[in-house]
Amino acid sequence: MDSFVIEGGRRLDGTIRINGSKNAALPLMAAALLTDQPVTLRGVPDLADIGNMRRLLAELGVEFSGDPGAPRLKVTDEGESHARYDIVRTMRASICVLGPMLARRGEARVSMPGGCAIGDRPVDLHLRGLRALGAQIDLDGGDIIARAPGGRLRGDTIFLGGAFGSTVLGTANVMSAATLAEGTTVIESAACEPEVVDLARLLTAMGAKIEGAGSPRITVHGVHRLGGADHAVIPDRIEAATYMCAAAITNGSLVLEDCPLDCLLAVTDRLEAVGVRVELLGPCPDMLRCRCRVTAERVLRPIEVTTQPHPGFPTDVQAQLMALLCLAEGNSVITEKIFPERFLHVAELSRMGARLFRQGNTVVVSGVRALKGAPVMASDLRASAGLVLAGLAAQGTTTVNRVYHLDRGYEKMEERLAAVGARIERVSDREG
Ligand code: EPZ
Repeated sequence: MDSFVIEGGRRLDGTIRINGSKNAALPLMAAALLTDQPVTLRGVPDLADIGNMRRLLAELGVEFSGDPGAPRLKVTDEGESHARYDIVRTMRASICVLGPMLARRGEARVSMPGGCAIGDRPVDLHLRGLRALGAQIDLDGGDIIARAPGGRLRGDTIFLGGAFGSTVLGTANVMSAATLAEGTTVIESAACEPEVVDLARLLTAMGAKIEGAGSPRITVHGVHRLGGADHAVIPDRIEAATYMCAAAITNGSLVLEDCPLDCLLAVTDRLEAVGVRVELLGPCPDMLRCRCRVTAERVLRPIEVTTQPHPGFPTDVQAQLMALLCLAEGNSVITEKIFPERFLHVAELSRMGARLFRQGNTVVVSGVRALKGAPVMASDLRASAGLVLAGLAAQGTTTVNRVYHLDRGYEKMEERLAAVGARIERVSDREG
């Protein structure tokens, strides 16, 4: 298993282009199951999770051709509708094949995803939504078995909110399934995340009739069939936010290209309160692909932040912001409202000299003058990103172990950070 070895204390300076979004690309790829026509996706990042989704879709009869960054997906065989545990257990996002497969093939068997490092992560809302569309759903041998009576789902009005708010992949599943249902579906308390909007854009290009994506009420008028499309994946807002924190924590200056500032207002609001400047460079006709410079004041201010569904502050940036706040002058308060257990980085940051006090879903961060390098590890993608950021700022050497978690969501992070001045290298077990 690979590790990153980081010599901290180097100021970052340079330019980073933001890649296509992983969390947008996964449901977009699954949407190819809704048609027998080719779907081309541009700007698909080269990540372990994307590879897993490719393998899963290949098993479900999707043929891939073309460049890996701009693959053409075409269903050539609709005979296999079983998403097996072997693949689903490697990636929870496998659940997003459920809605498209059920809608197009009239049946689907998808292994039930288990819990993961950031919490239990149930799929009850996905199932509630699909049941409301008329699906019969059973559990057998750990698999979700879903059938559309008569081969076609029926539109209905569905409340999709849960104890922690809306559900992103649940909304993606129900919205995708509703495109081919008979009649009209209204999804109330839909997730407003930009990845849902991007999926609606692709589905619309394929011939779906969708209104309200990006708002809490999405209306879908079902159609009989969908066609192919050619679609550019939105840039990754979480990757952009991570590199913003990297600029700030090293007191550096990074220019981000293709930065989706329009989706990052909650992040830039909180960063500005800390003393981080995000300056737009030149005119930006498309606010999803801006050029901006990120710099920070020498003294960082403490803040309060609560994670919330979009457009609130994203849970996927909580760990990175915590790393930054470890070096602010004073006490910050971070409350996690989406995944209340998502704090694997807390104990690891403490090993680097951070002063953190956790109670339930809240962490008080008492800023320190400096972090100290240490061997650390976290079995969550964003927690690992927070540790890399801490390592960039820390005195001495930090080894972040098990970076395969990072590789799930950040393409060649070490190369990109090294190109802007970080001293960071990947060490494989055999070398280390
Ligand atoms: C997506 O997961 C993202 N994953 C996550 O990104 C992200 O953290 C999360 O949305 C929240 O923004 C992908 O897009 C592939 P949810 P998702 O359903 O859709 C509860 C990353 O680091 N819930 O919106 O699975 C759930 O437990 C990852 O890139 C139910 O109770 O998340 C949570 O508390 C990790 N029942 C809340 O809702 C359900 O049926 C929001 O989860 C579904 C969810």
